[in-house]
Amino acid sequence: MSEIAKKPIKITETILRDAHQSLIATRMTTEQMLPIVEKMDKVGYHSVECWGGATFDASLRFLKEDPWERLRKFREGFKNTKLQMLFRGQNILGYRPYADDVVEYFVQKSIANGIDIIRIFDCLNDLRNLQTAVKAANKEKGHAQVALSYTLGDAYTMEYWTNIARQIEEMGADSICIKDMAGLLLPYKATELVTALKETVKIPIQLHTHYTSGVASMTYMKAVEAGVDVIDTAISPFALGTSQPATEVMVETFKGTPYDTGFDQNLLAEIADYFRPIRDEALDSGLLNPKNLGVNIKTLLYQVPGGMLSNLTSQLKEQHAEDKFYDVLEEVPRVRKDLGEPPLVTPSSQIVGTQAVFNVLMGERYKMVTKETKAVLSGEYGATVKPFNPEVQKKCIGDKEPITCRPADLIPDELDTLRAEMAQWSEQEEDVLSYALFPQVATDFFKYREAQKTKVDPTIADNKNGAYPV
Ligand code: CO
Repeated sequence: MSEIAKKPIKITETILRDAHQSLIATRMTTEQMLPIVEKMDKVGYHSVECWGGATFDASLRFLKEDPWERLRKFREGFKNTKLQMLFRGQNILGYRPYADDVVEYFVQKSIANGIDIIRIFDCLNDLRNLQTAVKAANKEKGHAQVALSYTLGDAYTMEYWTNIARQIEEMGADSICIKDMAGLLLPYKATELVTALKETVKIPIQLHTHYTSGVASMTYMKAVEAGVDVIDTAISPFALGTSQPATEVMVETFKGTPYDTGFDQNLLAEIADYFRPIRDEALDSGLLNPKNLGVNIKTLLYQVPGGMLSNLTSQLKEQHAEDKFYDVLEEVPRVRKDLGEPPLVTPSSQIVGTQAVFNVLMGERYKMVTKETKAVLSGEYGATVKPFNPEVQKKCIGDKEPITCRPADLIPDELDTLRAEMAQWSEQEEDVLSYALFPQVATDFFKYREAQKTKVDPTIADNKNGAYPV
């Protein structure tokens, strides 16, 4: 075995993306984030993850904010720090595969508006779904980081991981991320995995995990000792639970060792002081559920990511079937097996989760089948590591011939059509991309934006027949 070089560990801070996505349903507003950007910019982070994932959808849908505007403000504020986003491969930031022209244009505009590093993953680890995004990032001179969606199962051997890592390097990725969205990677397994990947590829390896099962900081320590280059952490008020290990704790842990980050703890303390009232407010309003802050060892049994757990609870609540929670949790791994044992990460986590809910509530498995389950079983999301359950496939899609090619090869370019559909709302080139991902939500947002502009000051509205647009 080659000697592992001991060097300062680099840190990606997740507070502006994953930390609040994992703990408070992605509800932090741009206004809440901007005042602290200047201080964050002085820390010396490898990067700040601040965009993509669910933030795009949540900004438009719940916060009535333009996500592109948020990105431009970050770029303006972070003068020295690299900005990072999370990108769902061919699914972009949405829930279905898009045409290549939309993927390329989205990557181009993300980088043009300020993104430096794009972390690209596929929910099935089908590398064909990453090609277009990686190539586009290369072309735009962005850093293309490809993520392995980490999961457990017979098929996911060390050989499987090193094999796809090799292909990812060959594809033109600038780095690899082990993306452990459910907190399943155990400390000694991390030693094994990082060592194996380091022996296989030359590009840097980053580790992303969640605290859900309680092992994350130990996993980081073992991964760092095994030579991982970068770890993802969250400033303490939004750390732990379903989020990441705390930045300050990791910094302190490696102090005085060859892995020392050199970060200023006083500066980190000021950043934590800024976010603490936002956490307290979220706890008071119920937005931050204390349940998400504890150790949930069941995550290791059911392998369900944090976000998926809260989705399941709310789906069952809507159906007045909260008592079926554990039945659904047990159905999840069975559905996952039927669907070729994919990792559970957006959108496969939602697809498997929703189907599990239907299977339990209907009293008969696959009596009701979602459009997305059918699409997975038809190969429309790509290839899975294991074959589909043929009986389930037959019951769900009948004699339909599943596709085996790269799914996007069958999706015609869609940008021109989309541009025509939303022309009346377009105020910036990026608007068509918001519309492409979430047609209804984006249209509602455009209407809202329009109304804001034409809104007459209510004090003078009285003089104009008292009418102003609602
Ligand atoms: Co995550």
